[in-house]
Amino acid sequence: MSTDTLTIATQPVATSRISELDFNNIEFGKIFSDHMLVADFKNGAWQNPEIVPYGNMSLSPATSAIHYGQAIFEGMKAYRGINGDILLFRPYDNFHRLNISAERMCIPPISEEIFMQGLEQLLRIDAAWVPPTAGSALYIRPFMFATDDFIGVRPSSNYRFAIFSCPVAAYYSAPLRVAIETNYVRSAEGGAGFAKAAGNYGAAMYPARQMQEKGYHQLIWTDHKEHKYIEESGTMNVMFVIDGVLVTPAVSSTILAGITRDSVLTLARDMGYKVEERRVSVDEVVAAHKAGKLQEAFGTGTAATIAQIATINYNGEDLDLPAIESREVSNRVAAELDKIKTGQAPDPYNWVQKISL
Ligand code: COI
Repeated sequence: MSTDTLTIATQPVATSRISELDFNNIEFGKIFSDHMLVADFKNGAWQNPEIVPYGNMSLSPATSAIHYGQAIFEGMKAYRGINGDILLFRPYDNFHRLNISAERMCIPPISEEIFMQGLEQLLRIDAAWVPPTAGSALYIRPFMFATDDFIGVRPSSNYRFAIFSCPVAAYYSAPLRVAIETNYVRSAEGGAGFAKAAGNYGAAMYPARQMQEKGYHQLIWTDHKEHKYIEESGTMNVMFVIDGVLVTPAVSSTILAGITRDSVLTLARDMGYKVEERRVSVDEVVAAHKAGKLQEAFGTGTAATIAQIATINYNGEDLDLPAIESREVSNRVAAELDKIKTGQAPDPYNWVQKISL
């Protein structure tokens, strides 16, 4: 990746916690790597990036982000390549998307220098935390939040940017049962649905919990005007294979431009599948199921990668989808994506960035 030019003060841990981790039994998001990167925006500039031991941050009770939600995040992954290399997947896309979210939330953009060099140095110091086990990765969480201790409602003058990481295995352990949501909405046109804003996730928890109480893992969001068109599934983009065509809702102001989404569509196109990014109505999906043409449904996201959907509930009726093993498009794309991420297949897209150790 880049040649380091930025001085990042580093305070290493006295003793690593890595012996607490069982690489064969990793629970998502619970054990964090030894270090984190932090930088603060003050006096009109991002400054003093530092790598420090992972740990609590001290915040004023009046911290603006806690009250008014000026907080955004990203999710990306680093993989252990076949030669033991550390391979980061599409970090520049995450960097660009973080700044798109930042603009929407009135947060000053972070420089490429701090983001990329900070990330690279963080990965070097915590390289041992990148799991060697197949199907696992180091999940990397960059985030930014408003730090003014002021409870008037206005964009903060001070912010914190940080990156920490945690080794992870599969996000979902089994194919999902999802239900189409026709009451609540995740996002509306003109809102912040395209941004990875913390509040989008907070507001989704209540409707998701209602669905979980009815026996579904997640919901499928529909549009805010008519609840007629499909938007996303839970915290992922959603895709269908209908009569051999890979179909997914086009990105819009209400839908996050997922990096896994883009990777899947790119690979599927290059494998020769027909791909359509357009409005996808609930009626179309239900009719395709009734006609025996709904061959696959799955979510795409950094954490879950490709999460197969086994059942879709609509208006009280469970639509059961074909067996996972029969799903040619998602299985082929998932296998190829995995090979590219871990250096087992060529990377014609230049998605993978090797960290020099
Ligand atoms: C991701 O896939 O990185 C997400 O944003 C999901 C996350 C909220 C666990």
